Amino acid sequence: MKFDSTEDWKSKIKRIIITEEEIKEEIKKAGAMINSVYDGSPVLLVSILKGAFIFMADLCREVTVPCEIAFMAAKSYFEGTQSSGHVEITMDLKHDISNYHVIIIEDIIDTGRTLNEIIKLLKIRNPLSLRVITLLDKPERRVVDLKADYSLFTIPDYFVIGYGLDYGEFYRNLPYIAEFAE
Ligand code: IMP
Ligand code: MG
Repeated sequence: MKFDSTEDWKSKIKRIIITEEEIKEEIKKAGAMINSVYDGSPVLLVSILKGAFIFMADLCREVTVPCEIAFMAAKSYFEGTQSSGHVEITMDLKHDISNYHVIIIEDIIDTGRTLNEIIKLLKIRNPLSLRVITLLDKPERRVVDLKADYSLFTIPDYFVIGYGLDYGEFYRNLPYIAEFAE
């Protein structure tokens, strides 16, 4: 990804679809849900890098039950804004998850392929329970039958950037979620 100038970089941010305030509000509710469901249980929050890093950082600070933080990395191969369907786990967990209630913290469920692979991998390791929380859900684009246990925002079929989500590795640092101008 190359830009001629900061103005050029900015021109691809079409419009804000979810503001910082809206994100903050929904994260408080998601945190409250975790705190009520998992009272007293050993919880492992597993975030999928890189897209979910900001979501994890904000959500885990709303958690008031004992929890540990862990990361996995998955690479979905992209051609432009379309995933090709090939998923590779590039960093795995170091935890033995059989003693934990695992919550996967994901940025977005699009086709569902990435999460489907991660769920398959974690299920065979027998966690006490396994749930999925996703910041964004694009149900129109699903090719794998998969539903999050908790989704903060459902969005139409836009390619979005910001709050951890990238286009060509740029725009992850935007504090809001915006539509990308293709
Ligand atoms: P999947 O198609 O559900 O497997 O989505 C895989 C990954 O594609 C997500 O974890 C994101 O990293 C990325 N992705 C999907 N849709 C978008 C989008 O609208 N903006 C930025 N990244 C996206
Ligand atoms: Mg990405």
